[in-house]
Amino acid sequence: CGDKIALTPPMGWNSWNCFGHEVSAEKVKQAARAMVESGLINYGWTYINIDDSWQHHRDPNDRTRSGKFRDARGNILTNAQFPDMKGLADYIHSLGMRVGIYSSPGPWTCGGCVGSYGYEKQDADMYAKWGIDYLKYDWCSYGGVLDRDLKKDPYSVSSLAFQGGGDSIAGRKPFKIMGDYLRQQPRDIVYNLCQYGMGDVWEWGDAVGSQCWRTTNDITDTWESVKSIALAQDKAAAWAKPGNWNDPDILVVGIVGWGNPHQTKLKPDEQYLHFSLWSLFSAPLLIGCDLEKMDDFTFSLLTNNEVIAVNQDPLGKQATCVHAIGELRIYVKELEDGSKAVGFCNFDREKTDISFRDFDKLGITGKQTVRDLWRQKDIKTLDAGRETLSLNVPAHGVLLYKFMPVQ
Ligand code: GLA
Repeated sequence: CGDKIALTPPMGWNSWNCFGHEVSAEKVKQAARAMVESGLINYGWTYINIDDSWQHHRDPNDRTRSGKFRDARGNILTNAQFPDMKGLADYIHSLGMRVGIYSSPGPWTCGGCVGSYGYEKQDADMYAKWGIDYLKYDWCSYGGVLDRDLKKDPYSVSSLAFQGGGDSIAGRKPFKIMGDYLRQQPRDIVYNLCQYGMGDVWEWGDAVGSQCWRTTNDITDTWESVKSIALAQDKAAAWAKPGNWNDPDILVVGIVGWGNPHQTKLKPDEQYLHFSLWSLFSAPLLIGCDLEKMDDFTFSLLTNNEVIAVNQDPLGKQATCVHAIGELRIYVKELEDGSKAVGFCNFDREKTDISFRDFDKLGITGKQTVRDLWRQKDIKTLDAGRETLSLNVPAHGVLLYKFMPVQ
């Protein structure tokens, strides 16, 4: 793997879904502390990622606008909620974790704060100076097709809306520019393209220096959102490998929703399915909830080391749906030790009870020990060619099993 980084999918927390524009250094510190004090840190959760709104907002009346965007030399300035970014990064590092930040290649971020357009090198240099370990780089307000207009007068671009063009070759350019500057820094900085899967980003993300890229649009804490995102991942699966990951967006578990904090609308079985799929997908695992208010259910969901091991398996394969029986979709992920993680994923709103025999469709033959990973229990030894396995899968739920060949 040479000088590659992120050889297993990054695991951590991201501020956007729980704090949005209300993020502050204090809240980020509290999240970092909660990661340690809850014990999550012992399960591999490492990154504390600050999303949008640490910079100044374009609107002079916005709460995150407390001064100029940049200093006289063009260095990016933080808003009043982040009085000392270097101090914050040092603090997170002192707790044994890494720190992430967010920007956009356009003049403005999706949330209307100042972006990196025209200042990419200075921003990359500053991130390294602060001690940043992860950059999420968005797309809003940059359209490859608009590049010439942007050059004329970037800050006059009136619309903050998402602009197309990201599926063109020109649309790759801004990501390459930042990728090159990040690589020149004296520290490893994981580079996440928040690019929504435009132009089949999985095919060229590696070439612009990225380790993980969003494949789909923003997730929300509804079953429909999780389902539609999950079903859109297979097309990118072949490109996942150590150092390159498809990113289906953050985990909508626990207390989410800035401005209107609430328990995720996903039911417990839907959350088991969500976390199982993200593990099978080898997805970056970024917790999107308020860590200080995490309940026991959320904590236990995020600390099953056998499920996490599926996500972190060093072979780095991404599961695909290899067989379906109605709405029961069966995802298989090959693991380094020769075993297979199998998700029997029920997308139906009714429970499914079947006697399963099509092991050849899953590439599973011969004698197998079958282990239930959520329950951390071997459930039986099975002769895959001859015997059947009875499966009782809850509505919108999952059985996550590991099939280990018996020597
Ligand atoms: C976009 C991204 C989100 C978040 C916001 C911030 O919508 O997809 O994940 O970063 O921007 O403004």
